[in-house]
Amino acid sequence: MPDIRNIVILTGAGISAESGLATFRGPDGLWEGHRVEDVATPEAFVRDPVLVHRFYDARRANLATVEPNAAHRALARLDAEWPGELLIVTQNVDDLHERAGARRLLHMHGELKSAWCRACDARMAWDGGMGEGPACPECGAAGRLRPDIVWFGEMPYGMERIDRALMEADLFVSIGTSGNVYPAAGFVQTARYVHARTLEMNLEPSLGSYLFDESRIGPAGKLVPEWVDDILAG
Ligand code: OAD
Repeated sequence: MPDIRNIVILTGAGISAESGLATFRGPDGLWEGHRVEDVATPEAFVRDPVLVHRFYDARRANLATVEPNAAHRALARLDAEWPGELLIVTQNVDDLHERAGARRLLHMHGELKSAWCRACDARMAWDGGMGEGPACPECGAAGRLRPDIVWFGEMPYGMERIDRALMEADLFVSIGTSGNVYPAAGFVQTARYVHARTLEMNLEPSLGSYLFDESRIGPAGKLVPEWVDDILAG
């Protein structure tokens, strides 16, 4: 594709839907049965850590039952083969991009498979439950681990790196996100500001759909491999 060297890709829950992970705001949305404020805020964790741990422990355990789909695999192939700059920014806390092989990846909302110790500030890979209050492997403090997830009201990770990549972008692609949550929902505006091309791929038009040069409507598992084939063919 002419004139495109630097690509920033934003992914959301929709890219993992065909792997069997529920999206947040659909009819089977993850928040159903749980109000967001009950499980995804720092205040909720102070109020009821058992409930919050149970919610995230279940989601972490569930990762073992799902696999990356064709869209994750296509982005991993693009990552491996694209000669220019590329950054895949995901809002997802699952590990499906990395299991598909993506390397140039940033988890802006944190990761289920990471624990953060509030006593010593260490972050570490985590695979089991956290709800039984295990001691921190780094400092030994008991009951001070929390999921390394960015909750509502907290600052997303990697914003400086993301902003730098967006400012240099020639193409911004948004996949499987509803456009409800900032700052991710505003990336398209930064991309437009620097005159990058903008493309959205989603099952339905997102809230910010009108901001994109092009909207492709359909399942990520079909649209993303087609797009990757095209862009790698040049
Ligand atoms: P949402 O659940 O808000 O939106 C998912 C989008 O994916 C919707 O627009 C669906 O139409 C679309 N979709 C569903 N299946 C799809 C498929 N097979 N192919 C393509 N698109 C599909 O999820 P996010 O936008 O990711 O934050 O939500 C953003 C943030 O809100 C999450 O990261 C989470 C949540 O609060 C935190 O946990 C901090």
